Amino acid sequence: GRPLDLAGRRVVISAGGTREAIDPVRYIGNRSSGLQGYALARTAVARGAQVTLVAANVALPDPAGATVVRVESAEELRAAVLSAGADADVVVMAAAVADFRPAVRQDLKIKKTDGEPEPIRLTKNPDILAELGERRRAAAPMARSASPVAVAGSAPGALTSSDTPEDVLAQGSGPRVIVGFAAETHDVLANGQAKLARKGCDLLVVNQVGENLAFGTPDNAATVLVAGGEPVEVPRGPKEDVADAVWDLVAPRLT
Ligand code: C5P
Repeated sequence: GRPLDLAGRRVVISAGGTREAIDPVRYIGNRSSGLQGYALARTAVARGAQVTLVAANVALPDPAGATVVRVESAEELRAAVLSAGADADVVVMAAAVADFRPAVRQDLKIKKTDGEPEPIRLTKNPDILAELGERRRAAAPMARSASPVAVAGSAPGALTSSDTPEDVLAQGSGPRVIVGFAAETHDVLANGQAKLARKGCDLLVVNQVGENLAFGTPDNAATVLVAGGEPVEVPRGPKEDVADAVWDLVAPRLT
């Protein structure tokens, strides 16, 4: 059996992959199945957590005991994660969020009889994981007073004079532990360490993509990078193993 080391903790997990609409019937998507996020949700429930699962286009049954919020696009996923994350202890971003979306969503289906196709212009999606880290830094500068950056008041994402009171209120205190995922094909550790720092998260689960691993497969193998700590290797096995390795690292950070 699993330890009840997340008892009473509020955990938000994003899973699946976003779809970015081109027109009413077409979208730009990705191959994420949601299996890793759902394994995280099941194991967190088993360890006693109150789980909100933000599921983007996942064709899997709802995990027992979790609250499931269904979304499609990155913008919907952002709204759901920020709202559920405002009073959460932990946010885990396991979803594959599209980096770009079509700048314009056509109201009518694009027809081949329209003539030569127009190029699809893309625009950047918000980086939700980075935003969670920024909000946390901005909300609790004193909690990080050991950091010379925070003392200087120049932390990226710190409140600025242009922030309205609504902005300040909306920041809340945010989750205490933020976990990101990264799928890398090469220079896995170096790219992962850079991403951990850039996104301001506590843990970054780095998957090596390929060899029947990661996308759409029940098995995974990962390296969990730890801010200010040694990386933890999770050997190839069920996605529950990666999930439990994450919770093993998260639980002590909440006490
Ligand atoms: O930068 P990259 O896409 O590799 O980072 C992956 C991590 O960042 C994942 O945890 C993913 O959920 C998150 N992400 C995000 N918003 C984006 C893109 C990625 O939160 N727009």
